[in-house]
Amino acid sequence: MAKARIAILISGRGTNMQALIDAARDPDYPAEIALVISNRPKAAGLDKAGEEGIQREVINHKDFKTREDFDAALNDALKTAKIDFVCLAGFMRVLTGGFASDWRGRLINIHPSLLPSFEGLHVHERMIEAGVKLAGCTVHFVSAEVDSGPIIGQAAVPVLPGDDAEKLAARILKEEHRLYPACLRLLVEGKARLTGATVTYDESITASGALINPPIEQAGG
Ligand code: GAR
Repeated sequence: MAKARIAILISGRGTNMQALIDAARDPDYPAEIALVISNRPKAAGLDKAGEEGIQREVINHKDFKTREDFDAALNDALKTAKIDFVCLAGFMRVLTGGFASDWRGRLINIHPSLLPSFEGLHVHERMIEAGVKLAGCTVHFVSAEVDSGPIIGQAAVPVLPGDDAEKLAARILKEEHRLYPACLRLLVEGKARLTGATVTYDESITASGALINPPIEQAGG
């Protein structure tokens, strides 16, 4: 079967982009990374995509008067490259509701928190400040609001004594790199689907077990 054509939208270093590229190198992976677009000309991820021989494009938001114009240019590039699914990977531009609805069910994002908690910016600092004991990341369909939309998958990690934002971010990022390719695979294979406002899964997809912090064995539980 032909592989699904994926575009990855980035603004920065592109480690999630790299994780998707690495996953797609497996001949059994159902998708190929056909295009990387950055809204920032100097995004380090662009160099990495170039080294991988992947088609790259810069669509600089500063060249457009309105969000609608920028999103129209984005849409043109995606349509020209015959893209099936779009993955936002550290893409720090708010997309218009029109764009989100054009790509409904085919546009996903990764965010470094267990949504709907801690959407937005400075997430790791805010989680440490709030004293949460579990943190994590979320892959979700993109809707008109920032960091919202039906959730496809989440990975949880403990927040440990002595964590600062940097240490916590590194622990979460490691899981982002596992979760994103796995969720994209489910989507492309039709094993996770957008059904109205929620996501439905194949019967074969189930979860078990709990991550408890502090561990109950150590707490004498
Ligand atoms: C990642 O942690 C991603 O979850 C986050 O930006 C980082 C990009 O890193 N995205 C958001 O905060 C979206 N609201 P990367 O460029 O190395 O993939």
